[in-house]
Amino acid sequence: MKILVIGNGGREHALCWKLKQSAKVTSIFCAPGNGGIASIAELVPLGVDQISDLIRFAQGEKIDLTVVGPENPLAAGMVDQFQAAGLKVFGPNQRAAIIEGSKAFAKDLMAKYQIPTAKYQVFTEKEAALDYLAHQTMPIVIKGDGLAAGKGVVVAHELSEAIAAVIDIFASGVHERLVIEEFLAGEELSLMAFVDGNTVVPMQVAQDHKPVYDGDLGPNTGGMGAYSPVPQIAQSIVDQAIETILKPTANAMVAEGRSFTGILYAGLIITDAGPKVIEFNARFGDPETQVVLPRLETDLVDVLLACVDHRLDTLSVSWNQKAVVAVVLASHGYPGSYQVGVPITGIESEAADDTMVFHAGTTMDAGTLVTAGGRILAVTSMDNDLRMARAGAYASIAKIGIHRAHYRTDIGAKA
Ligand code: AMP
Ligand code: GLY
Repeated sequence: MKILVIGNGGREHALCWKLKQSAKVTSIFCAPGNGGIASIAELVPLGVDQISDLIRFAQGEKIDLTVVGPENPLAAGMVDQFQAAGLKVFGPNQRAAIIEGSKAFAKDLMAKYQIPTAKYQVFTEKEAALDYLAHQTMPIVIKGDGLAAGKGVVVAHELSEAIAAVIDIFASGVHERLVIEEFLAGEELSLMAFVDGNTVVPMQVAQDHKPVYDGDLGPNTGGMGAYSPVPQIAQSIVDQAIETILKPTANAMVAEGRSFTGILYAGLIITDAGPKVIEFNARFGDPETQVVLPRLETDLVDVLLACVDHRLDTLSVSWNQKAVVAVVLASHGYPGSYQVGVPITGIESEAADDTMVFHAGTTMDAGTLVTAGGRILAVTSMDNDLRMARAGAYASIAKIGIHRAHYRTDIGAKA
């Protein structure tokens, strides 16, 4: 089979890496890919927004399956357009991808179907939002509506901060609506599942680290590291989340005429009253994918095809018992502004099977690997337990040289 992966992050590197392990796969293309993906897939110089060019490419190459990584092309209807062109594609269509694209849609869906989530209100007017805030207790959470790469959320501890966030969001011109929601206290958990409409097959759970600095300090990022499993969260809690959140949400989407096929990713907070949703994503998480896919034992191609062909109920999906830790190495200044084009040295060959250096913001510049983004690499290690996997990831990252790059030293410490 010929596979086309859309995207250029660490998630897409992990997807290409896993797909390459399938005996069914003869060649992998990635558009646009990055400096690391280049060594395992053929890069296609097309952006994720060049949908008609990508369709022409897939038809010309006779691609058997296209896998869409990021949210933006899903929200733009890439899956609908590939399907209309008669191409097999993995991911939700535009009507289903709205579960990530609009926080207001997701919140209203959860309210209608009694899916546990933080209490909330949606506002289209600044004055009404400010008026509402005056009557709330702090901390409180303010979210701009729409895709924002994890950066559209403010957890305000003081009323003044909350007011500033509301004013900023409406002034930015990016968001027409905002959601103000109850602050939930508890550990975060990323629960992703393969979904083919009605059938939900959960993956192993992972925990992300959103804030940029150790101890969860500093502004939120796309994710500074992740690990799987998450031993401090009991399987009974995960099962509860599957039954009260994932399955009812897939069913609700079917009932709404928005049947979801693809990866449904619930971002959860495990509160004293059980797991509650803070967001849904319509795609694989990044960096969660880098720690979950190495644990998948079933051929990923079989799982993705079972979703696309709506026969996921006939497949049994198995996972290994290993532990995986990924530490993200980020550019100086990230999540604010940063330089690109900084040379990267010290990435060991992947001779040691259980250390995977997944590339995100990297590119080849005249034969030299250089930085090309905020999150540069996810240095990932798999081992028999979390302690050993952490040690492996940190030993590998210590050998990598990128001027002034930074990383968190406490990924997986909570476990
Ligand atoms: P989101 O983009 O909705 O995932 O939010 C980004 C981050 O903000 C989450 O990973 C949480 O750390 C935090 N957050 C979002 N919503 C809440 C909430 N209701 N209570 C507490 N923290 C939240
Ligand atoms: N790591 C969070 C996300 O993929 O949205």
